[in-house]
Amino acid sequence: MATDNVYIPFFLSAFIWIQLITPNVCDGALTSGCIPAERSALLEFKRGLKDPTNRLSSWVGEDCCKWEGVTCSNHTGHVIKLDLHSPHPFSDFGDEPHNNWILGENFINSTMPSWLSNISGLEHLDLNGNFLQGNIPPTFGNLASLEELNLAYNSLQGGIPTSFKNLCKLQNLILPGININQDLLELDEIFSGCIKMSLEILDLSYTNISGQLPEWLFQLRKLKSLQLSQNLISGPIPVSLGQLASLQELSLDQNQLNETIPETMGWLSQLVSMELELNFLEGVMSEAHFANLTKLKHLYLWSNSLTLKVKTDWLPPFRLESLRIGSCILGPEFPTWLQSQINISEIDMPNAGIIDAMPNWFWGLISTAEYVIISGNQISGHVPNILHLNNLSWLDLSSNYFEGPLPYFPPRLELLDLSNNSFSGIIPHDIIMNMPYLIYLSLSKNNLSGEIPFSICQLRALEALDLSKNMLSGELPNCWNNSSRIEVMDFSSNNISGVIPESICSIATLQSLHLSNNSLSGELPLSLKDCKELLLLDAGHNGLKGEIPAWIGESLTHLEFLNLRSNMLAGHIPPNLSRLSALQMLDLANNELSGTIPRSFGNFTAMTVIGRFPSLMAYAIEGSYKEQMLVTTKGNTIDYDKLLSLMNIFDLSDNNLSGGVPEELTNLSGLFSLNLSGNHFTGEITENISKLQQLESLDLSRNNFSGTIPSNLIALTSLAFLNLSYNNLSGEIPRGNQLLTFNDPSIYIGNPGLCGLPLNQSCNVSETARGQSNVDDRDENEMICSQEILRTFTFKKMLQSFKALDRVLEEFFF
Ligand SMILES: *[C@@H]1O[C@H](CO)[C@@H](O)[C@H](O)[C@H]1NC(C)=O
Ligand SMILES: *[C@@H]1O[C@H](CO)[C@@H](O)[C@H](O)[C@H]1NC(C)=O
Ligand SMILES: *[C@@H]1O[C@H](CO)[C@@H](O)[C@H](O)[C@H]1NC(C)=O
Ligand SMILES: *[C@@H]1O[C@H](CO)[C@@H](O)[C@H](O)[C@H]1NC(C)=O
Ligand SMILES: *[C@@H]1O[C@H](CO)[C@@H](O)[C@H](O)[C@H]1NC(C)=O
Ligand SMILES: *[C@@H]1O[C@H](CO)[C@@H](O)[C@H](O)[C@H]1NC(C)=O
Ligand SMILES: *[C@@H]1O[C@H](CO)[C@@H](O)[C@H](O)[C@H]1NC(C)=O
Ligand SMILES: *[C@@H]1O[C@H](CO)[C@@H](O)[C@H](O)[C@H]1NC(C)=O
Ligand SMILES: *[C@@H]1O[C@H](CO)[C@@H](O)[C@H](O)[C@H]1NC(C)=O
Ligand SMILES: *[C@@H]1O[C@H](CO)[C@@H](O)[C@H](O)[C@H]1NC(C)=O
Ligand SMILES: *[C@@H]1O[C@H](CO)[C@@H](O)[C@H](O)[C@H]1NC(C)=O
Ligand SMILES: *[C@@H]1O[C@H](CO)[C@@H](O)[C@H](O)[C@H]1NC(C)=O
Repeated sequence: MATDNVYIPFFLSAFIWIQLITPNVCDGALTSGCIPAERSALLEFKRGLKDPTNRLSSWVGEDCCKWEGVTCSNHTGHVIKLDLHSPHPFSDFGDEPHNNWILGENFINSTMPSWLSNISGLEHLDLNGNFLQGNIPPTFGNLASLEELNLAYNSLQGGIPTSFKNLCKLQNLILPGININQDLLELDEIFSGCIKMSLEILDLSYTNISGQLPEWLFQLRKLKSLQLSQNLISGPIPVSLGQLASLQELSLDQNQLNETIPETMGWLSQLVSMELELNFLEGVMSEAHFANLTKLKHLYLWSNSLTLKVKTDWLPPFRLESLRIGSCILGPEFPTWLQSQINISEIDMPNAGIIDAMPNWFWGLISTAEYVIISGNQISGHVPNILHLNNLSWLDLSSNYFEGPLPYFPPRLELLDLSNNSFSGIIPHDIIMNMPYLIYLSLSKNNLSGEIPFSICQLRALEALDLSKNMLSGELPNCWNNSSRIEVMDFSSNNISGVIPESICSIATLQSLHLSNNSLSGELPLSLKDCKELLLLDAGHNGLKGEIPAWIGESLTHLEFLNLRSNMLAGHIPPNLSRLSALQMLDLANNELSGTIPRSFGNFTAMTVIGRFPSLMAYAIEGSYKEQMLVTTKGNTIDYDKLLSLMNIFDLSDNNLSGGVPEELTNLSGLFSLNLSGNHFTGEITENISKLQQLESLDLSRNNFSGTIPSNLIALTSLAFLNLSYNNLSGEIPRGNQLLTFNDPSIYIGNPGLCGLPLNQSCNVSETARGQSNVDDRDENEMICSQEILRTFTFKKMLQSFKALDRVLEEFFF
């Protein structure tokens, strides 16, 4: 499929040409071979390129018309098309998974061959996706025959040359992904030239162009496709938009357009695709905006501040195939006009302000649909059995008011998200069995009860399973085997009892295991050793017993989060946990652990890194799944970043630990939170505590620490929470910097020898006590905040449908 649709004609100037090709021409028709000067021109071109994979290997021999990518005119013998677009161009990744792009096949690092402009007869030039460098050569403006110029996705920069105004035959100007970086007004001279009579496709998406939409845009007589998405265009959409009578495709998405959409939009009777998402458009859209849009198939308005206000009996002139209208207000009534959209394949309308019962006709309407996303509304009702929706692959009903038992869902589903509703009853075996292609299943935050069905183990394609926050009981299924592909499992916050099943680590792909807040008992099974890919183990708030196994440090080598908080774990902490070099959260609080803190704990590599340690979990693009974990910190002033992967937490509080705190802990300079409270630690607080320069929360309360509070504590300028109460500390409380903001004496009380502000106890006997008396009764309760991890599943369909991915993927690759 390399070279079938784009062309690059190579024409010499007429004068030179006559001399060179005469021998080959017979009665005006060429008999064989190519024109020598064009041949050497092509060879020159080849010489200037880096061609690591030898794409131009066919460029040998006399007849250049037979070379790959080269097409000659049958009449004149001239090269009329040169199609050297990358075999894996960005613009049509379509069905291909992005990891098939082989960047090495492109002409990386070569400079744009400006001399192509010497070939004045060129009609089609396609160099899409080759990472050529340099500027767009101004001499291209000499290519008077040029009909199509495609330079998309090269590493070009600089403006569109003014000489382009002379391209009087140019129909397709395709330049996305080039750093043009001009104000649209600066292009006025070019596009007011004769080019405005011929241009049909103008694609300047993702080119860093800025400014407001200028009048010249709406003077382009034949314009069929206007693509300006992913730029810095601001201001309103002008009324003159309505003049583009031939317009079929309008892509202005991902800009900074504001104000209301003009009603003249409704004049664009040829419009098939309207993409205005991700702007700052506001106001009301009414029937008038769609009046003559009889051909509209794709309507994308999501992420603006628009309200769609139409009469209840509005019959739209169009029949849509895809509707993406998330965050536009369509409600409060369920939009009845949707009922006429009988061939719709995608309905994406989350957060649309719908507060209504789901009409019955909806389940019939989506009989042709592949994607249905209506999350974040307040839609109520029961979901009927919808086995017949054969084409449905995504169904997201999350965060609504659906209730009743789980119905039968159609067999082709890949994503089913019913989270945050009020579905009740059990999870029947056969309902699960019936969805063998599920990749993502979330039933979180409902009112489901009963046991987890064994059929869950048979979902061979499943990558994410979230059954958290229900009332599920019984034991975890022990039917997993190595044909599962699950990466995330969340069973947290249910009433699940029994032991952690032996088979769970047969799942070689498992990365996150959330078991917290259940009634699990027994020990951490030896079989957990086999969870080699595990990044997160959250088994807090259960009834687990026994010791923390030493093999965790040897086997779970990728672990980033280990939360065993609030169990009944006893014994010593194994020193070799510190071999978990990626560990950034260690929460063993509220157990029955004894002994000392191992010295090796200064060796947690990830916790020694200031700033962000690269996590395997922290990638976030379209289609991501928000993984959550309860994180406990003390105090209520800590404002952690949204991403859990940014938090370094070390919490051993409320155990029976004793001895001195090893000096080595101060190596963990990436820590945000250190909590050793509620143990029997002795010794002094080290001066080196100031090395924990990112610390936001420090709790050493309820121990036997003695000596003075090191004055260095004032160096911890990020500190937002401090508790040193109930120790044996003495001397003057250091004041300065952040410590000046801690006026609550309760964080120091219970240390009879301490003096100075904010305590009432003055250090200097001659100074009268003048501390505040309003000991505010600070809430000592632990703050539990729910943190999110964004995790990505590469749904193939998602790749096809989200244009924004172009950019994201590009960022991934460079
Ligand atoms: C030239 O003629 C061949 C054979 O008839 C045909 O396949 C080809 O498409 C023609 N090329 C052009 C550019 O018209
Ligand atoms: C392209 O050039 C950059 C620096 O100019 C270099 O780092 C890179 O390796 C080059 N890539 C190729 C494929 O030659
Ligand atoms: C292109 O044409 C210019 C004159 O128009 C000439 O100076 C130059 O050498 C030509 N370059 C090539 C590579 O043919
Ligand atoms: C747009 O400009 C930014 C900042 O200068 C740059 O990083 C980015 O690569 C440019 N975009 C394109 C498509 O070149
Ligand atoms: C719209 O954007 C333009 C350009 O950024 C700005 O000058 C104008 O104030 C904005 N209008 C409104 C109503 O926000
Ligand atoms: C809308 O369509 C009607 C019927 O085809 C036509 O009469 C009318 O002129 C069109 N209006 C606009 C503004 O295109
Ligand atoms: C229905 O939609 C599909 C694409 O989803 C399209 O190919 C087909 O032509 C449409 N049928 C009608 C009758 O509009
Ligand atoms: C499902 O999609 C196929 C094509 O992918 C189409 O032929 C078929 O008609 C669709 N089924 C329904 C019920 O729309
Ligand atoms: C749950 O759904 C309700 C109602 O739509 C919404 O207000 C709330 O924010 C949702 N909660 C979560 C965690 O998504
Ligand atoms: C959950 O289900 C139980 C019965 O199983 C019922 O008593 C309770 O009201 C339900 N809660 C909600 C929030 O629907
Ligand atoms: C894994 O389990 C499935 C269903 O439970 C079963 O069909 C399959 O044979 C099992 N595979 C192995 C290797 O045990
Ligand atoms: C910490 O790591 C260093 C370097 O790997 C090693 O030399 C040292 O022995 C370790 N300390 C402890 C207490 O394990």
